[in-house]
Amino acid sequence: MGINVALDGPSGAGKSTIAKRIAAKLGYVYVDTGALYRSIALYMVSEGIPADDSEKVVPALPSVKVELEYREGSQHVILNGEDVSDKIRTPEISMAASKVSAIPEVRTFLFDLQRDIAARNDIIMDGRDIGTVVLPDADVKIFLTATPEERANRRFKELQEKGDPSTYEEVLKDIIQRDYNDTHRETAPLKKAEDAVEVDSTSMTLDEVVEHISAIIEEKAAKKKRPAEKVKKERKPLLDFSDVEPVKRGKKLNPIRMFFYNILRYLVIFGFKIAYNLKYEGKENVPKDGSNIFASNHRGYVDPVFISLACRVPNTFMAKEELFHANKFFVWIIKKFGAFPVERGKGDMQAINTSFEKLNSGRNLVIFPEGTRSHDGKVGRGKTGVALIAAVAQCPVIPVGINYEGEKLKFRKKVVIRFGKPISPEQLKVTTPGPKELKLLRATIMDAIVDLVH
Ligand code: DC
Repeated sequence: MGINVALDGPSGAGKSTIAKRIAAKLGYVYVDTGALYRSIALYMVSEGIPADDSEKVVPALPSVKVELEYREGSQHVILNGEDVSDKIRTPEISMAASKVSAIPEVRTFLFDLQRDIAARNDIIMDGRDIGTVVLPDADVKIFLTATPEERANRRFKELQEKGDPSTYEEVLKDIIQRDYNDTHRETAPLKKAEDAVEVDSTSMTLDEVVEHISAIIEEKAAKKKRPAEKVKKERKPLLDFSDVEPVKRGKKLNPIRMFFYNILRYLVIFGFKIAYNLKYEGKENVPKDGSNIFASNHRGYVDPVFISLACRVPNTFMAKEELFHANKFFVWIIKKFGAFPVERGKGDMQAINTSFEKLNSGRNLVIFPEGTRSHDGKVGRGKTGVALIAAVAQCPVIPVGINYEGEKLKFRKKVVIRFGKPISPEQLKVTTPGPKELKLLRATIMDAIVDLVH
């Protein structure tokens, strides 16, 4: 993982100009997240969808594909195959972006993309919620501000140079309106992260701001990179499982609940068979009793349901923590169906303990070891968490391959769910769950999944 710099602040504070300069100076990749919200806004505007109408915006999201490409150091935004980097810079799209960005599903839609880019590079990422939500563990967090009048002044000059006819008063009104939208929305509002350094650029020149922020970044980056060896030596095992007993399998669930659960399951199967060309393979590998771990690749939000429909015993799911910030009804539904949150990449002890509790209670546990959905159908490397839980719990691990016809789940399209042979507790035995053994175990599990994806 490289150095992550989060640069947040209100519209027109100069974030993009400054971030670009710093990125060029320090050799980082500059990620302009506003461009992602802008391209969604552009799509909605061009389809005649009002940007603040979540009931129309949300169903349109699956038709939007946004990608970022970097050519000669500059970011290009590709919307459904078209380079829209210039088209998204109009005042109309600015206002529409501010509106779509208040819709929680739009934020969730862009979340993984932003995290994936950050995980791969030394980056400076600008936006509104980078230090608070997208990269809460960023190495450096800067909150860049300036008075609304100064920001309007700068934006006005920029627009004039482009030949835009907007007046100063209009630009100021827009800035004040967008500040209000961005700070008052319910999901991920613009606010300074507690550990961010605030830089007020009102009476600073561009060069001064660049110098000041670069110095903060360089100091933190040097600290992070320098003591790498020392840290390695001092590193203690992250999690201690010496007291955790293997799961006691064979616990029976309440038969009345099971009865109603299975009626519901058959109804949903019926509905899904109408909606999709749904096929199951290797169902004989699905144990009839509970306390099993299903480890699956991840293509779409419906995957947990596809897996559960093949199991008589209700499943529980480890779901990324961000999903629990989505709309209340969605959160209520996923919790009802056994989802519990995990903070990815952090050795989330609470999530691991919850997994053991659920397995001990006789329910199955579904894990998506990749931690996020794959957009191109390829199976990623997977996190070691799955190996750790399997090694300590000593429950059979059933590999699952989810296969969609095409990139996304679509009405009447083929969906094939393949269950592989269970990996037995004997195969999962490790003497101590050290990093080397866990990596090997993860490879065994991930290879079994990969074999089922074709
Ligand atoms: O930074 P910008 O002006 O290009 O951003 C356009 C809009 O997108 C802005 O009004 C707020 C929104 N945005 C957001 O909500 N979160 C981000 N991380 C980036 C932008």
